[in-house]
Amino acid sequence: MRVQFSAAELPASGFIAVGVLDERRLTVTAQALDDRLGGSLTRAMASSRFRGKRGTTLAVLAPAGSRFEGIFLYGLGPAAELDALKSQAAGGALQAALAGSGADSVVVILDGLEGCRLAATDIAVEMAFGATLRAYRFDKYRTKEKEDDKPSLQLLTFACDGAERATKAFAARQPVAEAVALTRDIVSEPANVIHPQSLAEQAAKLAASGVEVEVLGEAEMRHLGMNALLGVGQGSARESQLVVMQWWGAGRPPGAPSGDAAAAAPAASADSNESGPIVLIGKGVTFDTGGISIKPAANMEDMKWDMAGAAAVIGAMRALAARRARANVVGIVGLVENMPSGTAQRPGDVVTSLSGQTIEVINTDAEGRLVLCDCLTYAKQRFQPRAMLDLATLTGAIIIALGHEQAGVFANDDTLAAQLIAAGAAVGEPLWRMPLGEEYDKLIKSDIADMKNVGNRGAGSITAAQFLQRFVGKTPWAHFDIAGVAWSTKDRDLTPKGASGFGVRLIDRFIADTVEAAGSAPASGRG
Ligand code: BES
Ligand code: MN
Ligand code: ZN
Repeated sequence: MRVQFSAAELPASGFIAVGVLDERRLTVTAQALDDRLGGSLTRAMASSRFRGKRGTTLAVLAPAGSRFEGIFLYGLGPAAELDALKSQAAGGALQAALAGSGADSVVVILDGLEGCRLAATDIAVEMAFGATLRAYRFDKYRTKEKEDDKPSLQLLTFACDGAERATKAFAARQPVAEAVALTRDIVSEPANVIHPQSLAEQAAKLAASGVEVEVLGEAEMRHLGMNALLGVGQGSARESQLVVMQWWGAGRPPGAPSGDAAAAAPAASADSNESGPIVLIGKGVTFDTGGISIKPAANMEDMKWDMAGAAAVIGAMRALAARRARANVVGIVGLVENMPSGTAQRPGDVVTSLSGQTIEVINTDAEGRLVLCDCLTYAKQRFQPRAMLDLATLTGAIIIALGHEQAGVFANDDTLAAQLIAAGAAVGEPLWRMPLGEEYDKLIKSDIADMKNVGNRGAGSITAAQFLQRFVGKTPWAHFDIAGVAWSTKDRDLTPKGASGFGVRLIDRFIADTVEAAGSAPASGRG
């Protein structure tokens, strides 16, 4: 589905949509139209349950006395409440209602709304963004879908004042919408299609946008000593991969690491570095059977989604590069397949991580943290990041705690946590801060190694985060447990059922609001 913007004029025919505020208050255009049609819109509302609630629609088809094929009334709710996110939601809901309506092209009229803090132009842009996100479909494997089951809607035209400005503003949002779609595509692909090497190939395509992409295989990771990550992949027939994506949009600082990714990293004692990049780290378990600690069969197919953190990092890098973000950001994804086999890692095995710390692998199904810990160490040693953010479908326990409405965020830095929570709120990807603490850390003490990879029964998401924290040192760090929000089993305003692309908009916004807004050029400054 495409969107476009046009001047604020009512077309003479075709399908149109006009807005209605709460309590069936007609917008200016809706009122004029109703007058012209002898009150048929008012009558249609009166004989229905449609009251103008945001997200609802009412179809008035082929109204007598007009040349329109159909008029859709769409609810906006109270004008005073309408903000960017609610406008996006209204756009998403309208798209969903029109998608299978039979209309292939609809002109959506946007009026200026009294008492609303957004101008019609801005509402149009937000609605178009919401409609675009909601129109996403993953249908490449449906070969027999009947025409009538496919969406009819091909084009949404938003008619508003300042259409030219809207076109420009929307163009600036399009890279983000496309990045969300990319992430959803990658997450939706089954594990026989997306495996470590094919996912690395997806990441490598970012080179076309100006991202420097390196792919490390098992031999290189073994040479470096990434044994925690490698242990997870050792039962798989697929080779594990590490992908490093660099975007130096604020200019590469002098002496910034480049070149040989597989060379022994410098033993950096300098922890966080104000002029270093933000490093994004993603869990990329392309399928999680649990390994020898195998998962039950029911719903195991969902574990193709266990690379959603990596997919979000790839999507975020794509969005930042596509909009030429003036920020230095590095993405690192650890790609492995967690399989049971004769070569698989066993419960009780002890591995030496890249950091040198040893780990007793009590449960091979707690594999995400084993992948992430080596990525965190690699990031710290090679890039001396200003901050590290990791995204992972890490624990079922976060779903018990927060359900599917918010992601959990853990952080060792209050400012960073507050900035991330604000960014999430601004884009509609809410985060709930979870605690860290010494008492929780004790729960992963091992009898024979530096730590074990699971705690006991309680606080499963927290002990997972404590495990990660043992690898971050003093670098400002935040960990997003996105197990509950990476996909949805029901349609939502901006996301059809399935992969959500959670994290892409949030990261993009965080970089824009904190790194770019601060104009934080590297120490050397820019030319
Ligand atoms: N990938 C899972 C977490 C998960 C579970 C994501 C359900 C989405 C839905 C992770 O690797 C895992 O298996 N975690 C275990 C940890 C446990 C063994 C300590 C879990 O949550 O059960
Ligand atoms: Mn697991
Ligand atoms: Zn997993």
